[in-house]
Amino acid sequence: MCGIIAYIGKEPALPILLRGLRRLEYRGYDSAGVAILNNGGLNRVKTMGKIDILSEKLKDQELLGTMGIAHTRWATHGGVTEANAHPHSALNGKLMIVHNGIIENYRELKNQLLDVSFVSQTDTEVLVHLIGKYYSGDLRQAVETALAQVRGTYGLVVTHADHPDKLIAARMGSPLVIGVGENEHYIASDATPILAYTNQVVFLDDGEIAEVSRETIKTFNVRHEHIQKRVEKIDWDEAQAEKQGFAHFMLKEIYDQPTVFQDAIRGRYNIIDGTARLGGINLTDNQIRDINRVIFIGCGTTSYAAMAGKYAFERLAGIPAEVDVASEFRYRDPVIDNHTLVFAISQSGETADTLAAVREAKRRGAVVRGIVNAVGSTIARETDGGTYIHAGPELAVASTKAYTNMIAVLILYALQFGRLRRLSLATGLRVVDALREVAQKMKETLELSEEIKKVAQKYSDYHNMMFLGRGINFSVALEGSLKLKEISYIHSEAFPGGEMKHGPLALLCPEFPVFAIMTKNQLYEKMRSNVEEVRARGAKVILLATKGDDRALELADDVIYVPETMELLEPLINTIPLQLFAYHMAVILGKDVDRPRNLAKSVTVE
Ligand code: G6P
Repeated sequence: MCGIIAYIGKEPALPILLRGLRRLEYRGYDSAGVAILNNGGLNRVKTMGKIDILSEKLKDQELLGTMGIAHTRWATHGGVTEANAHPHSALNGKLMIVHNGIIENYRELKNQLLDVSFVSQTDTEVLVHLIGKYYSGDLRQAVETALAQVRGTYGLVVTHADHPDKLIAARMGSPLVIGVGENEHYIASDATPILAYTNQVVFLDDGEIAEVSRETIKTFNVRHEHIQKRVEKIDWDEAQAEKQGFAHFMLKEIYDQPTVFQDAIRGRYNIIDGTARLGGINLTDNQIRDINRVIFIGCGTTSYAAMAGKYAFERLAGIPAEVDVASEFRYRDPVIDNHTLVFAISQSGETADTLAAVREAKRRGAVVRGIVNAVGSTIARETDGGTYIHAGPELAVASTKAYTNMIAVLILYALQFGRLRRLSLATGLRVVDALREVAQKMKETLELSEEIKKVAQKYSDYHNMMFLGRGINFSVALEGSLKLKEISYIHSEAFPGGEMKHGPLALLCPEFPVFAIMTKNQLYEKMRSNVEEVRARGAKVILLATKGDDRALELADDVIYVPETMELLEPLINTIPLQLFAYHMAVILGKDVDRPRNLAKSVTVE
């Protein structure tokens, strides 16, 4: 995720900005840049790659200016190039911006700027030129006028060479915090780079704009009215600040889900036609209608997200879909032709087996597309199109938000394909409506954390656990089981409920608890019978049930109630309590949550 640090004060800005960029490295980035106001002009230096390279490039420059802006970029629009790195500029280098977030309507806005020759492929460059267009001496007003036309998310800082006494900061959906020093201010995307200097901060809220000088911070709301903001004291250390106050990256990433889910679907669905449009697929509508089989390939958590995708494709698009673990696919003899669409799914975009599977599928003539988180990664480059899931950097080894965002994108694809084939407008609209409610339901589900912690405490002495799910919730059971074993090292297995009597029942006894997903859907009664079978063997039962299902209590030792959603979207909600269960269990058992033994975040070797 991109990072911002800006400074206005009495000290040379450059060392403060470089140190700040280093503190932001944990967020993940692929390029970086800085601009300092020096002798009346803005000096800008950008680079691909590490802060060390940037620092090296700046070595021989005498930049003693006391105001500047800096940025680490994690590509979203346009590849990883120096031109795409921030700061972006307009008005012949007099106006510069650093920006986090996504400007959704940047193509429309670009049409208003026909006389501009753009040097990058970014949405941010469009924004800075739009601000330039409205600038006539009042910098804040120009920013306000431009932002009034923008749809999307931003946390941004703007500087102009003719205004050596102010920076303009604005926030909508992407955090910004202002650090308060003595005759100096810092603006950053999180508190990490500020804490070395001050713990007095002002948090901007969505829709607010701040005019920041050395002495004052003037803040304004969406209606451009002056508002008074409270200066707060934060007592986080730098490590806590990186995690935005959460104890671990994994927990932070679990809590990121409502926000990044919206990033995944924003601008990609259509509320009138009840469909989705993921342009990156690079196929015409007729080519999409010609696809007669879909194969999803991935590893680990990703393969479980794919399994939810399989259900969605069959249900919504009526296309036969299968999931293949990449390490198997690459050495099998998969039957593939040019009507087969292979989706390579990967958080990192670098997993060796998935990459090899991509190459093999291409060799056999399949249409290969990527569903990837890391922009510009090898799988993103080697596939002939696809979609980024916009989950932001995931730093904990155990994947959480990438799983839900992969499913979000798979459901959008299933909807798009379905509406081009057999899916009715009414059903399409129902899916779109339900998708729009997911983020709120995710938030409600996160509120269960303390309750889930108590359940985890109760089961922390057991050495085994079984997860059960049916239909699309089998994906959830597999993922819950993987999370638990990955970070708490408790042995766990997952089965479809209907498989129990074909073997796994033999394992059950009072020492082998079962976590069953029994939410209200078309398989509810079937799952209920499976849970009764489990109970009859004396096993303890934790149930994930739909709010209001009082009958669940009769069957369980513990019940966790989640909000109801459309069956196909259930993994987006139901997985969250299982992620939290594994997380709390690992903490209770004293395990290294973010870096479990023997595992790596990105497996780039076979
Ligand atoms: C590793 C990670 C898992 C991840 C898997 C696939 O095993 O620890 O969390 O699910 O790789 O990674 P990918 O980056 O391809 O999604």
